[in-house]
Amino acid sequence: MSLAWKFILTKGAVALCILLTNAAAPAGSSSSEEFYGNLVAQPSRLARSIKKHGMVPIDLWDDKSFNFEPFHSWVINGSIYMRNVSRNYPLSFPCGVWVNHNYKFVFIRNRKAASTTVTDNFDKCHYGNADPKLCIEVASKASLIERGIDPAMMWRDYFVFTTSRNPWARAGSSYDYCSTKWARTDGACRQPAFSSFCRDPSILGKISNLFHCFDKVGMYHDYYHTEPVAPCITTPEGLPALDYIIRYENLSSDLPEAVRLINKRRDPSLPPLPEPKIYWKKKGQAARQHEESGIDAHKAALVGHGDKYHQCGMQCVRDIYYYFKVDFELFQIPLPASAPEDGK
Ligand SMILES: *[C@@H]1O[C@H](CO)[C@@H](O)[C@H](O)[C@H]1NC(C)=O
Ligand SMILES: *[C@@H]1O[C@H](CO)[C@@H](O)[C@H](O)[C@H]1NC(C)=O
Ligand SMILES: *[C@@H]1O[C@H](CO)[C@@H](O)[C@H](O)[C@H]1NC(C)=O
Repeated sequence: MSLAWKFILTKGAVALCILLTNAAAPAGSSSSEEFYGNLVAQPSRLARSIKKHGMVPIDLWDDKSFNFEPFHSWVINGSIYMRNVSRNYPLSFPCGVWVNHNYKFVFIRNRKAASTTVTDNFDKCHYGNADPKLCIEVASKASLIERGIDPAMMWRDYFVFTTSRNPWARAGSSYDYCSTKWARTDGACRQPAFSSFCRDPSILGKISNLFHCFDKVGMYHDYYHTEPVAPCITTPEGLPALDYIIRYENLSSDLPEAVRLINKRRDPSLPPLPEPKIYWKKKGQAARQHEESGIDAHKAALVGHGDKYHQCGMQCVRDIYYYFKVDFELFQIPLPASAPEDGK
């Protein structure tokens, strides 16, 4: 292909993206408040049934194989040796991979993306009264070997699913959530400004560790709540390692469909999984405030974090976009060029 053609095609693709982005908001009438509300409510375009390209490397989810050292040296490089480190750090904690060997599914838990709503529909196997057929357990190399199951075969044959959430909304949710877990919130443990968080999302982990703001949650908590989800749901090449994505924004239709697909594939001697119960398990303060101001519960849960970006503006939108770029690209959510300038 000639360079000129490539140039024209690229320009065409960019123009199309801009058109599509603008089309997402009602033309002309959109206030900046609506713009930011729509921005954070956009679901992943990669959704529901998708082509699985392979597995998430076992070293990222088996807690005995997981290597914390790259993350530790990132912390040390930045804070002790004053080296120029990238904002994004190596994975700070093993991915949350859960499995049920009767219904043959794998569920990957992503933080701040309604994963508790999904897992609450299944008992955890370590609970005393758990139904051994229905319950889910953390997958590990040792427990798979014990069952004579090859991890790659499991990943290939089981129904592998996860939840996704708009990364701008997820970042807003992490920002609210982490500080609520701190035992102290005064002095050096004050919550930093949202704009500071956007510039460097690891600021929460840095503050809470340096000043010992947390009590129970531990040193990794604020880091693993503010990292991109892509490494835990893709192959090493960055391709989906999933059969299905439940969108936070479409939980009430995507979750029952996931259960229907698991039931369809199940061993016929097993009873069907019951209809899932849907409720927002850990509804954050942003959603609650919108609900109190009279917006219906479902919409409130989606647009709540728009306010944060409305106040901060496009700088925060861009800062979060580049920090979570792997997620935005995987979910095919574009960065808008600008916000409407209506002063609202
Ligand atoms: C830490 O710094 C050393 C020396 O510059 C470098 O080799 C290493 O890759 C860095 N590690 C991380 C995780 O940034
Ligand atoms: C630090 O690294 C970033 C890329 O990670 C680079 O853009 C920037 O110029 C570097 N700054 C210095 C002072 O070396
Ligand atoms: C997904 O949710 C969005 C936002 O609430 C809604 O506009 C859309 O119709 C939903 N799509 C499906 C397929 O459920």
